[in-house]
Amino acid sequence: MPIKDATIQAVQQTADILEVVEDYLPLKKKGQNWWALSPFTDEKTPSFSVNPQKGIYKCFSTGKGGDAISFVMEMEGVGFIEAIKTLAKKYSIQIEETELTQEQKEAISEKESLYIVLNFAAEYYKKLLQTHEQGKALGMSYFKERGFIGKTIEDFGLGYALDSWDGLLNEAQTKGYKQEILEQAGLILKSERGSFYDRFRGRVLFPIHTVTGRIVGFGARTLKKDEKPKYINSPESEVYHKSEILYGIFQAKKAIREQDNCFLVEGYTDVISLYQAGIENVVASSGTSLTNEQIKLVSRFTKNITVLYDGDSAGIKASMRGVDLILEQGLDVKIVPFPEGEDPDTYVRKVGGEKFKTYLQEHSSDFILFKTRLGLQETQANPSQKAAVIRDIVQSVVKIPDAIKRSVFFRECSELLGIEEDILISEGNKILLKEERNQKFREQRQAKQQAERLDGGGLVEDTLADANTQAPVLNDPVSFQERECVRILLEYGTRETEDGGKLCNYLLDEIDQIDFHDGLSKRIINEYKEALKRNEILAINHFLHHADDQIKQLVVDMVSEKNVLSQNWKKHHIIVPEKDASLDKVVYSNMLRLKYRTIKKMCQESMQMIQSAQSEEDVNEAMQVYQALKQQENELAKFLGIVYS
Ligand code: CTP
Ligand code: MN
Repeated sequence: MPIKDATIQAVQQTADILEVVEDYLPLKKKGQNWWALSPFTDEKTPSFSVNPQKGIYKCFSTGKGGDAISFVMEMEGVGFIEAIKTLAKKYSIQIEETELTQEQKEAISEKESLYIVLNFAAEYYKKLLQTHEQGKALGMSYFKERGFIGKTIEDFGLGYALDSWDGLLNEAQTKGYKQEILEQAGLILKSERGSFYDRFRGRVLFPIHTVTGRIVGFGARTLKKDEKPKYINSPESEVYHKSEILYGIFQAKKAIREQDNCFLVEGYTDVISLYQAGIENVVASSGTSLTNEQIKLVSRFTKNITVLYDGDSAGIKASMRGVDLILEQGLDVKIVPFPEGEDPDTYVRKVGGEKFKTYLQEHSSDFILFKTRLGLQETQANPSQKAAVIRDIVQSVVKIPDAIKRSVFFRECSELLGIEEDILISEGNKILLKEERNQKFREQRQAKQQAERLDGGGLVEDTLADANTQAPVLNDPVSFQERECVRILLEYGTRETEDGGKLCNYLLDEIDQIDFHDGLSKRIINEYKEALKRNEILAINHFLHHADDQIKQLVVDMVSEKNVLSQNWKKHHIIVPEKDASLDKVVYSNMLRLKYRTIKKMCQESMQMIQSAQSEEDVNEAMQVYQALKQQENELAKFLGIVYS
């Protein structure tokens, strides 16, 4: 809901960083600042500091820092507006909303009323579980049988729905809640005769919370042995978007951040059993396979996900598909398989929390390596599958946006599989190219459809021609060298140089004075520099999915047709990193080359100036420039001779 600037300002002026942080962490004064253990990592000595004069916090372990509002955003995993609202509530600041259209008002108040009835229902079910004869006899004893203790039941807000057609409906109506809203919230259903009845009957209830703790739906488990379905879940609604919710995230978020890892399990009972056993950083995607939104949600708190699989191989295969999505978003994925017939819930109850944690440590392996080993077993049983297995593994590797991580995996998988790294890499390039082509095809088709919708005329050709644009082909050695420089930057930018700095910094420093001829290279370098100012290093993947088609194409070519290109490069005497060449040396010599080429070009231009000069004065001046350049050219040439000899 949009709020007025005045409210934002009021919050900014009122919120005191000390008071806000103290709601989350115990602070101790030392010198000018206040200190605490960082909530963002697991540490023994405090590195998290608050400076009340400046109104800021700074975490020296993670580099995170900001004001009271950004602290709340970090801790609650919410956006700016939501953080403002949280703080406004804390300081009892009236939230003024911007004028809304009637339609917007209705949409908002509809959502609000859904939250209200869902909250009412959760309280009602909770009370039944705790105090009603039936709730205690059936619901509570079921939970106790499952081993849930009182605190756990409390923390997850578990409840019980009476075995009746209208328990909730009646209670809600006496409280004045409209049937229409109850229906929209998925709490009641309409029969064919037009009368309403409760959706959840004679079941125990698991309320589903958003990351900020609002209830948006329920999972309801039967208590009867063979009743199908075992679980009835709330339907999608204005407030419940299944693809954006992870069960348990509200209870888990603090632990996820502290442990810098999130365990992913299958369902409600796994989450709760693990939580109770002291493994609180756990969420479930609840039936559906993992979505991008869910991964984004986790990545607000950590970049590490550990997937806990059931002990049957069908389960493993099914969940593996979701994992590529996690890799694609740049998160690290580990996996822990369980013994046949066990799931995290049964296993933790069997062995207890401490043994379970040890099991997790001992059996967690990197997802890609796990997949590789699994594939290896498969191909040993069935050698004809080998190509398919390799492709499958490479498919996962190329999803990783970080070039260095990717190259590490290529090497490790090549060792495990006993296949040359080059073969895996070229297989990977094929996949990337193909995906790129498919993407292009989709774009073209969309463009075409759009054009056809607009009109049938010349527009179609225009749009198609546009979608077909290739990176311009180069004949000029300077531009070649520039592109090689871009490639080195993108592929190796994050590597360390021999003196411990980052390669990208060294490289950008070196080319700072050079005005690139090739427009595309120039744009890529500029974008890279801008991002670096924000402390962000752009990986190749960023450019592979670039909005600008030419840039995208250029970078695709760089990563995919290495061999073709490098032949060209060799023709132009450009050094391409060989397998075992020292990277520092390669970069250095490329820099020299680039400078040499650039100077040489300037010399040529300068010579033209001399020839076209009109007065003697002009000639003299141009000659001086030329001589200075020529001298530099010669020196560089000498240098190059040394480097290459
Ligand atoms: N689940 C579901 N819908 C079903 C079956 C399962 O949503 N029809 C989800 C639930 O989140 C559940 C998880 O999958 O927690 C694990 O399934 P299962 O082990 O069958 O559920 P439990 O309640 O643990 O049943 P049991 O006591 O038989 O193990
Ligand atoms: Mn189970």
